[in-house]
Amino acid sequence: MIFMKSGKDYALITGASLGIGRAIARELSERNFNTLLVALDTPELKQLEIEIRETYRTKTDSFGIDLTDKNSAQQIYDWCKNNAYNVSILINNAGFGEGGYFEDISLEKYCKMIDLNNKSYVSIIHKFLPDMKRLKESHIMNTSSMEATLPLPYKAVYTGTKNFIYAYSLALNEEVRQFGVKVSILCPGSVLTNKDGLERLKSQGRKAKLLLYMPDEVARIAVKNMLKGMLIINPGIMNWWITKIAKFIPTRIKMRILEKIFKVYK
Ligand SMILES: NC(=O)c1ccc[n+]([C@@H]2O[C@H](COP(=O)([O-])OP(=O)(O)OC[C@H]3O[C@@H](n4cnc5c(N)ncnc54)[C@H](OP(=O)(O)O)[C@@H]3O)[C@@H](O)[C@H]2O)c1
Repeated sequence: MIFMKSGKDYALITGASLGIGRAIARELSERNFNTLLVALDTPELKQLEIEIRETYRTKTDSFGIDLTDKNSAQQIYDWCKNNAYNVSILINNAGFGEGGYFEDISLEKYCKMIDLNNKSYVSIIHKFLPDMKRLKESHIMNTSSMEATLPLPYKAVYTGTKNFIYAYSLALNEEVRQFGVKVSILCPGSVLTNKDGLERLKSQGRKAKLLLYMPDEVARIAVKNMLKGMLIINPGIMNWWITKIAKFIPTRIKMRILEKIFKVYK
């Protein structure tokens, strides 16, 4: 298991101001890891920094930035270098999705989704990986989704971005594990984080509640298993079973079933 060997070792988390990212930042602080919090420049981000500083004995700092900006990865990297922050855990988590008929959502929004959910992950890893390879042990965790392997009709582009992260992380892990870098893929099902989650819960009723997780539960499972070097992390036993069983259902039938279940997104 990795230890924060010096006071300069940090876990960097994107999308840290809310939801799963915020819960991961708290979980890491609870386990004595120093944290670097990255998200849009909002009061929530600063609030979390203050909360962590006051609650835990760990070091923390925050950097407000729009990760869809072209130079954001370089700016984050420069910020770390200028402050001598040594990133030994990198958690790419910021992301968003939207449901509806494919053509009803603007192309501009899709491009932003791809920039945030995919391009920012690749760009940040591209900057930090050479330094991480020089460490004895380091971790990268990329937040994908259960939808990576269960493509959802009416959320086709979002699902595609999560599938990209899944395949990219699997391949990258094989390339870098010989250098002591372990890549994990976090594949949550439904997590009650924001307004979208609440709407989904209302529209899908009781059956959705069975598969719904709270961000702190997901964060606990994610951090524990990332530190063990687990490759694919499916939080929740029900979600784990659904993912496994779905592999045996012929694709055409599986997609018809998914369309029926998720037509609420229309
Ligand atoms: N919630 C679920 O059911 C679920 C399920 C599977 C996978 N996931 C994935 O888990 C990750 C976190 O989801 P969540 O539900 O916790 O989301 P969330 O509550 O909406 O939080 C998203 C985080 O990303 C940040 N962010 C958004 N746009 C950004 C941008 N352009 N630049 C920098 N930061 C930005 C947000 O900051 P601001 O608030 O300041 O915008 C926030 O900190 C996402 O990748 C999501 O796709 C979620």
